[in-house]
Amino acid sequence: MKTIKAQSYKELSRIAADVIAAQILGKPDSVIGLATGSTPIGTYAELADKCSRGELDFSKVTTVNLDEYVGLGGEHPQSYRCFMNRNLFERINVRPECTFVPNGCAEDLAAECRAYDARIEQLGGVDLQLLGIGIDGHIGFNEPDDHFTRETHEVTLDESTIEANSRFFASPSDVPRTALTMGMGAIMGARRILMVVNGKNKEEILRRALQGPITPRVPASILQLHPDVTVVYSEE
Ligand code: GLP
Repeated sequence: MKTIKAQSYKELSRIAADVIAAQILGKPDSVIGLATGSTPIGTYAELADKCSRGELDFSKVTTVNLDEYVGLGGEHPQSYRCFMNRNLFERINVRPECTFVPNGCAEDLAAECRAYDARIEQLGGVDLQLLGIGIDGHIGFNEPDDHFTRETHEVTLDESTIEANSRFFASPSDVPRTALTMGMGAIMGARRILMVVNGKNKEEILRRALQGPITPRVPASILQLHPDVTVVYSEE
């Protein structure tokens, strides 16, 4: 595992964007796993700038997102589909039909989860997976549990996650209670993992994830078993 301490959020965003850009330059048809949350927003802005300067070409790239709230359609401003369109997809030359986010409004959510895993497999897996970390150690929406779940699945969000994510909604009661998330199989199957972590309040959970025991109670601790993880963090 490689950890890089950035001096600022701006620097963290630049470093993370450079890692993703290098991946795409080396393999223009890369499958990139993407994350939401506030931390990757700066990374996405840097990638969009590189694209508009003509330094980076997303025309052959495919993206697969980690997760989506159940019950929020792509037009809902707090859905992760909408977040991705706004912060990245509309600002780069990726083909919209090559951007995948689980459908949290699917009639049959279990079938949607199975189809999502089949899609990732059909794409040949993820080349580079971008991750954030939740305050409870979740990655994607894999919440603390007594076991790791391999497949894409529906999860009940923890109270701490609902509270943390309520800042994006009018009130905590507006935050969906469940979500679909890629499971640990697809995440750990990614050839490379890039985790971005920002803020003093994430310091303790990051230490537990990287140095503590590997346990589904701290879902991100599973990353200790992955052969190619880069963590970029800033205390800003
Ligand atoms: C959400 C996402 C996670 C993300 C987390 C952290 O819960 N499902 O993938 O890592 O937010 O978000 P932030 O970067 O805003 O702290």
